Amino acid sequence: MEHDPIVARLRAAGCVFAEAEAAFIRRHLQDTGDIERAVESRTEGMPLEHAVGVAEFAGLTVAVADGVFVPRLRAEAIASAAAAHRPDARVVVDLGCGCGALAAALASRLPGTEVHAVDIDPASVVVARANGRRFGFTAHHGSWWDALPTALRGRVDLAVGYLPHVPTDRVERIHPDFRSHEPRHTVDGGPTGLDQVRAVAAPMGDWLSPEGVFVTLLSTEQAAAVPGRVLSADDEDAVMVLDGAAVGHWGL
Ligand SMILES: C[S@@+](CC[C@H](N)C(=O)[O-])C[C@H]1O[C@@H](n2cnc3c(N)ncnc32)[C@H](O)[C@@H]1O
Repeated sequence: MEHDPIVARLRAAGCVFAEAEAAFIRRHLQDTGDIERAVESRTEGMPLEHAVGVAEFAGLTVAVADGVFVPRLRAEAIASAAAAHRPDARVVVDLGCGCGALAAALASRLPGTEVHAVDIDPASVVVARANGRRFGFTAHHGSWWDALPTALRGRVDLAVGYLPHVPTDRVERIHPDFRSHEPRHTVDGGPTGLDQVRAVAAPMGDWLSPEGVFVTLLSTEQAAAVPGRVLSADDEDAVMVLDGAAVGHWGL
């Protein structure tokens, strides 16, 4: 194969998927200065998506920024399951939106739907607002449901969230590139990983419409401890649907 200087530099820096990363960089950046800066940042250990400033998610290209959680491929299953489960949803909420990847995917898949997104991290909200202008959703700053306009109380047909759900003692296992560029609160879910799932579940019944549901992804192990229905699962992950009545006081 012809010598590719970008692939060679990425490989020398220890990037296992050097060819795929070089292709990603060239797909999203044209300016030679931008490409050089991205390659430099990546070889210094910045996650690829932060280095380039975008992530690919559910067929879309969304903006991301250093310090903001990089959307993971596995979370695409939440968007697919949620859109298939409630194609009739009129009001959709993405809880803990990061850059707003799930909100963008659902705004694209369910045209005409009112889509809101929430995050506690101001840097994430800035990026989510930029993505919201492109894909058609509104991002709010604050904690879980409290960040939403009160007019949405009892009207949310479909809530989604890829919540922080890594058990505290497993956070150290996350790849160091991500660990040093994504704040700990984006992943750490407490001792069992379920602290934030409980925090979201507790007031859920007040915000969901009578037929409303919350769709999330947990580890298959965690799913067994949560009062919801598994929509799909493999050895690692389970996509779950929870409704306000089933959750009851579980989150309290
Ligand atoms: C695992 S990341 C997922 C981000 C995004 N949904 C995605 O898939 O790319 C979890 C997100 O929850 C946010 N978060 C943590 N605690 C929160 C809270 N109390 N209220 C709202 N968002 C919170 C974090 O800032 C982070 O962006």
